[in-house]
Amino acid sequence: MSKVTVVGAGNVGATVANVLAHKDVVNEVVLLDIKADLAKGKALDSWQQAPIDYYSTKIEGTGDYRKTKGSDIVVITAGIPRRPGMSRDDLISTNAKIVTSVTKSILKYTKNPIIIVVSNPLDVMTYAAHKVSGLDSSRVFGMAGVLDTARYRAFLSTELKISPKDFQAVLMGGHGDTMVPLPRYTTVAGIPVTELIDKDILKAIVQRTKVGGGELVKLMGTSAWYAPGAAAAQMVESIIRDENRIFPCCARLTGQYGLRNIFLGVPVKLGRNGIEQMLELKLNKTELRGLKKSAEHVKAVMKTFNKMKIV
Ligand code: LAC
Repeated sequence: MSKVTVVGAGNVGATVANVLAHKDVVNEVVLLDIKADLAKGKALDSWQQAPIDYYSTKIEGTGDYRKTKGSDIVVITAGIPRRPGMSRDDLISTNAKIVTSVTKSILKYTKNPIIIVVSNPLDVMTYAAHKVSGLDSSRVFGMAGVLDTARYRAFLSTELKISPKDFQAVLMGGHGDTMVPLPRYTTVAGIPVTELIDKDILKAIVQRTKVGGGELVKLMGTSAWYAPGAAAAQMVESIIRDENRIFPCCARLTGQYGLRNIFLGVPVKLGRNGIEQMLELKLNKTELRGLKKSAEHVKAVMKTFNKMKIV
């Protein structure tokens, strides 16, 4: 039996639940929101899709944390999304309180869950959830890199007119404009992307990736949900099926890359116990400089969070 709770029945949370149900890899998904009827409605709608799309995963909507008891994995998407003109960091005063209180409520009914944070500002919300939970850092991490590399791979696919299936990439750093896509670690069906694409075009794609979330906020007036939801669901799948897939995730660094006491995007192996292994790449000077710059940015937001004295 496996059970996954998704907290937040907004666009992202509902998409995580829906995509996860389609994968049919867990027995039960609980979709929780303070707006209980919204959660119940979206869960019921997804359940009514089951006879059409053939899945057995039960989806239940609720506003009651008691229903989350015994969750193997909890995905936290609760909080407000960006509006045009906002950076992810502008969300901290509202979302820090929401994410910490959600984490506490979850732990009342499940002692040792794996927590995947999706709420923004992502890196600092993951730090907050870890801090308030007291859980091992192999069990608390954030979704960002899967989404950011998906955007990067989609842009490359459009440019090269090659299926998105054939792109593999690593991207590191914070989930913000300082993120570090790594062309040196990007391949197309095993071929280094640098052999297939003009340098300047690649540079422009890297830049577009960095502000990829903002591009969607500008278009829609709110932040994205299809790719973010699918990204979190893919992480859940790797854990539930103990696949040991390698994904860039927001994880706690303890000296890797010369960084410690910070949550930042790095490649990790996701299996039954959460982060089974952290991979340490041999970054060159420029890449490392980019990562350090991103870390400084995240540290500054961490400071703002710590000053709030919530935890
Ligand atoms: C984005 C949000 C989910 O990047 O942070 O679209």
